[in-house]
Amino acid sequence: FRSDSYVRKRILLTRRLQDFAQARLGRRYDLEVYSGRVPMPRRALIRAISGAHALVCFPYDVIDAGVMDAAPDLETIATYSVGYDHIDVAHARGRGITVGYTPDVLTDATADLTMALMLDLLRRVTEGDRIIRAGRWRQIYGADDYLGTDVGGKTLGILGMGRIGSRVAKRAAAFGMKVIYHSRSSTGPGTRVTLGRLLERSDVLSIHVPHTPDTHEMMDMSRLRKMKRSAYLINTSRGRVVHEKDLAAALRQGIIAGAALDVFHSEPVGPANPLVKMQNVVLAPHIGSSTDGTRRKMAELTVKNLELGLSGREPAYSVK
Ligand code: DGY
Repeated sequence: FRSDSYVRKRILLTRRLQDFAQARLGRRYDLEVYSGRVPMPRRALIRAISGAHALVCFPYDVIDAGVMDAAPDLETIATYSVGYDHIDVAHARGRGITVGYTPDVLTDATADLTMALMLDLLRRVTEGDRIIRAGRWRQIYGADDYLGTDVGGKTLGILGMGRIGSRVAKRAAAFGMKVIYHSRSSTGPGTRVTLGRLLERSDVLSIHVPHTPDTHEMMDMSRLRKMKRSAYLINTSRGRVVHEKDLAAALRQGIIAGAALDVFHSEPVGPANPLVKMQNVVLAPHIGSSTDGTRRKMAELTVKNLELGLSGREPAYSVK
């Protein structure tokens, strides 16, 4: 931190934001930016946050009571994400620390990626790419080579009809899919059904619930077994909603046909994860919001949340 920092508030960023956002924040505040490629280790985070008034964090940073309490002057937290399951919001609120997040701006990008993963999985695009790159494409246009699954006419089951779930539903309807969904609180396009029906009837099940104590590992073997053997699972929400070991077993044993995943229990995924070896799985490196336009909007919102939070007001988008 700079030596004149007694007049300027201090922000700790656990990763760099885009240059324009850094520049805008740097004009008013003192910034400390962690530059490691892996998430900031907890001990380093606890040390660095001690003099901070604000924190910019990311979905992989665990911001619990211990971290917050290492920062007596902390006024606001801005997460560069719509998900906030990595933050102990109740503790923050109890201490009067506001928590800003970035909903809405990434809804379309995440819904698009969900469709991309679904189409890829059903039409075996990535699998074909692997075949060509491995030099194993031998026969041209064989009548039953590389057969995929038709998308039109299939039933898409959406687990969680929030912002992203409802945009996925609209896109799927345009592809001729029948949409059913299960949601505890929201209604949306398609037919609302019980969770049991959703599992039994879906040809493709797409997960759009947040990760909470209630949804933690809810897609375990008992639920995977209720799905059709021909069904596919897509997850662009949070890895921990799925019991990942059970999913790997279900895919290996043919309990479901395939999966496309943008989120995992532990990220980044390394070669030891059994999913990496499976042909009926498409993997993406947590890129639901990764488009230039969307990430720019997320950065703009993060800056706005911080500016409001550091002036003693509620962030523009505030977790209550
Ligand atoms: C989010 O915003 O929560 C995504 O997972 C990361 O962009």
